[in-house]
Amino acid sequence: MAVRTPTLPPRPVQRSLGPFAGLFALVAFSACSGSTRDAPPSPAPYDPLALPEAVDTNSDPHIFETTLEARVENIELLPGTTTPVWTYNGILPGPLIRVAVGDRVIVHFSNSLPEETTIHWHGLRIPNDMDGVPDVTQPGVQLGASFTYDFTVPDAGTYWYHPHYDSAEQVGYGLYGPIVVTDPNEPKDLGDEHVLVLSDINLNEDDGSLIPGDDAGDLGTLFGREGDTLLVNGKVNPTVTVASGSRQRWRLLNAAKSRYYQVGIAGQTFTRIGGDDGFIASPEPLNTVVITPAQRADVVFDVALPPSGQLPVQWIPYDRGYGSTEFRSPETIFTLQTSDQAPVTPPPLPALSRDIEPIDVSSATTQYLQLTENDQDGHVVLGVNGVPGSQAQPLLAALGDTQVWVVENTIDWAHPFHIHGFFFQVLDTNGVPPAVAEWRDTANVPVYGTTRLAVTFADRPGMWMFHCHVLDHAEAGMMGMVHLSP
Ligand code: C2O
Ligand code: CU
Repeated sequence: MAVRTPTLPPRPVQRSLGPFAGLFALVAFSACSGSTRDAPPSPAPYDPLALPEAVDTNSDPHIFETTLEARVENIELLPGTTTPVWTYNGILPGPLIRVAVGDRVIVHFSNSLPEETTIHWHGLRIPNDMDGVPDVTQPGVQLGASFTYDFTVPDAGTYWYHPHYDSAEQVGYGLYGPIVVTDPNEPKDLGDEHVLVLSDINLNEDDGSLIPGDDAGDLGTLFGREGDTLLVNGKVNPTVTVASGSRQRWRLLNAAKSRYYQVGIAGQTFTRIGGDDGFIASPEPLNTVVITPAQRADVVFDVALPPSGQLPVQWIPYDRGYGSTEFRSPETIFTLQTSDQAPVTPPPLPALSRDIEPIDVSSATTQYLQLTENDQDGHVVLGVNGVPGSQAQPLLAALGDTQVWVVENTIDWAHPFHIHGFFFQVLDTNGVPPAVAEWRDTANVPVYGTTRLAVTFADRPGMWMFHCHVLDHAEAGMMGMVHLSP
């Protein structure tokens, strides 16, 4: 069984711990029965990880029209217990939306949660009024209310959807789902494709109930709350059977609200072919795959395990700051098992390359953003340039601007920095350029480190959000807006 997020040793800096902020009022969870119309069984092979797909109710092949309902559903995560998981359509994760690049997506969304919510379409370059930020791009969707999202998906890749209201709690309680945008022209033979939604959830082991989202007070906020139970596609350590030697293509998505995932399998190397926005410039060989909260990684590998073998696919501690690696050991995400069938030999991996022109920053304006921690009234407040998001003035950009953002981390924990609605290129992290060119929407800013990124605000004026995707940090104020004027 997974270990709890460790009790942190005292920090060098003295700080007051917030009280375990009282009892969490579970507001009238209605036991929704709900139809199962949206959760058809998926194809049999690779069963434990099969993700139910959202159902397209539109007969036009280029329009994907579906229904999502946010509601609480009792799900057995720990054997013999049930957890009131916050779900889309009653399943964890929410249904996989699989569409082709250029498709129009219409989602009739309704809210049956005990509080307001929205859906943000993470990584999709869609119009500002579809971005799902409550009171900024749309009114929050109240209990019993609905909202129709309607947009065209411009880029192939792996994306996801999640709420943007009380996001640390709502995502932490289970509200997230994957989106795969396929490109009909991409090379074949990339392997057996599996979409793997990695996350975690914080449960009381005795009864499976949810641990409140304000657990451990200010220190929990600063560290970022990691759930003690690891989940892959909503399952706790499933066993997955594959053929020895077979080529796997895993579309990995980190939907955890604070946990960084470093994924490894003993004796197995990986080739990363994609990131946040589809393919990277050229394949990158890796021993382990690091995915910060909200990032995606598309990896291929030929299963190195002989027939009838078994190995854990592991979460390996990754240094994201104080307490993240101390006293922690690898944990099993799921178990990879090989069948007794003789090893298979897949064809050579097709040559993959993508032209990613470096953004021309010669006439870019520069924005300096320090990610900061302050005390306000005895409580930890995080912010950008010393100001929490709720009190900040927006940054400014004009349509067509290219900007360089110098994002400097001034605190003891790393931040996955995310900009809504636009892809950027990392110029360097602590002065070191990335190994492979790629488009990102989320980039790591290491402890006391600096990440410089280039972004072109080419289209779609509006108020666009940026924030740390350790959602506990975002909720504590590490967020802001960039106002893109026409
Ligand atoms: Cu996943 Cu505001 O983002
Ligand atoms: Cu952060």
